[in-house]
Amino acid sequence: MTHCTRRQALALALGATTYLSMPMLNAGFASAASEQTPLPIPPLLEPDAAGKVRLHLLKGEHSFQAGKKAVSAGVNGSYLGPFIRLQSGQTVTLEVENTLGEDTTMHWHGLFVPSRLDGGPHNIIRDGETWSPEVKVDQPASFNWFHPHLHGETARQTHLGLAGLMAVTDGRDKERGLPVDYGVDDLPIVMQDRRVIEGDNAYAPDIQDLIHGFIGNIIIVNGAVDPVASVPKGMVRLRLLNGANARNFHLRFEDGRPLNVVASDGGFIAQPVAVERLTIAPGERYEVLVDFADGKPVELRTFSDDKGENDELRVLGFVPDDKLPVSVTAVPQTLDDPGAADTSLSVRRRSFVFDERTEANQALLAGTVAPANSGHSGHEMSPMKSMDHGGGNMGGMDHSMHGGGHGGGQGAAVEEAMPAMDHSSHSGRSAAEVGVAVTATTSGVLMAIADEPFDMKRIDVEAKLGSYEIWELESREMAHPFHIHGASFRILTKNGELPAAHEMGWKDVMLVDGKAELLIRFDREADRDHPFMFHCHVLEHEDVGMMAQFITV
Ligand code: C2O
Ligand code: CU
Ligand code: CU
Repeated sequence: MTHCTRRQALALALGATTYLSMPMLNAGFASAASEQTPLPIPPLLEPDAAGKVRLHLLKGEHSFQAGKKAVSAGVNGSYLGPFIRLQSGQTVTLEVENTLGEDTTMHWHGLFVPSRLDGGPHNIIRDGETWSPEVKVDQPASFNWFHPHLHGETARQTHLGLAGLMAVTDGRDKERGLPVDYGVDDLPIVMQDRRVIEGDNAYAPDIQDLIHGFIGNIIIVNGAVDPVASVPKGMVRLRLLNGANARNFHLRFEDGRPLNVVASDGGFIAQPVAVERLTIAPGERYEVLVDFADGKPVELRTFSDDKGENDELRVLGFVPDDKLPVSVTAVPQTLDDPGAADTSLSVRRRSFVFDERTEANQALLAGTVAPANSGHSGHEMSPMKSMDHGGGNMGGMDHSMHGGGHGGGQGAAVEEAMPAMDHSSHSGRSAAEVGVAVTATTSGVLMAIADEPFDMKRIDVEAKLGSYEIWELESREMAHPFHIHGASFRILTKNGELPAAHEMGWKDVMLVDGKAELLIRFDREADRDHPFMFHCHVLEHEDVGMMAQFITV
């Protein structure tokens, strides 16, 4: 059954058109004066009487901002997809119809099902076909999502808009004292970024983007630029998903009001944790409660750079509205205690390094080396040739020194360029700052997490079904969001210290910046024909091979 609240209907009917009566929130930010886009709310979708959830993947056009249209793809719509609500214990058929004109897969990120029912890289849905896994919902209440996972194409397809939300509920949220009125005081917030919101070439990474991740300078929420949410003057639950390819969000309210974290990827935490700043890496989710009782309009912002030190960008505005019903006025005392992580359960240790293969990839960037897996050393390998500097921040690299493209004798130039690489160029490039577009597969860029770049035919880990293991992870040049399928974990340490209180619950994504130790529980089967993945959730990194496979035995 599909419910549709009045507010939702309004948002859907308006699409991304402007909402003229909204006041301007912040003169300091460059946005169209007195016009604000209402936050689009994804339609709520529940299994029908036969237990079926229909997902139709299609290409289309989407308006991220009024008056502008971009080529996009979506699930049952032009961009992104529905908010699927499943009840724990339910058996449902997730019917995915692919009419994209290309192959894809659909991965249930955070839904714990055996690997053959999950859309990893091995479960391809050919163009024109329908894939209908029947799954039993058997896990704690949690906020999850779904997106394609076709190897080498995950970043492009997800960026096009193929992603949606999937919450598991146990029907006890009211008892827990949490807001449950979807679209009113329970709001899904999908945060992404883009370089282009018009035309047909929104995703055109150059080699540098494969190395750093594709980060745009325009923030979008639920598929809209600069939206505003009307909220009741009470506690509002925000289900936050970082659905961006590579950008880390470092969220903060402009007035410093707390984000009361109640849940992380794998479900509720023991008790709410109030934070002023919340970092969410790609693929990661947090649910927070925010108090709007003071009736003041306020903005949620992110820092524009990767370390969270630079200018703030607007993510989403909130305008309290007297007419909306208030159901919760206080943060609950306790939630669901996952207990302490018990390391004595671990049966073995493994370690993995996020290997950026910097030297080889920088050589490609400088155009001195032809890609090993592409037949030609042709024009597409010269990212500098048509580089338009556009006054942008290129992280201190002087691209003009490579002006001649590839050819002999640039060894010295490569070496000079390497130390100048600045990961703060993560902050988001504009379309004008980008070199010649490449694809993950033909670029020659390769990264790894299990010594060697990803190989569909190689099984990297065999874990005992039902067992626990401790994994030590290490990142070197930049922070990488680690994610594992069909398993959840507890963070034991981050660089030798305990994680923050809000990071103590069950998770399936964590940003590894230096060293981390995790206790992982392997409790869903993965057979040899459908291994599960673990990978960096910077989608460009995943596509260039920073991914590996495990099975359970
Ligand atoms: Cu959200 Cu393997 O992915
Ligand atoms: Cu996943
Ligand atoms: Cu990465």
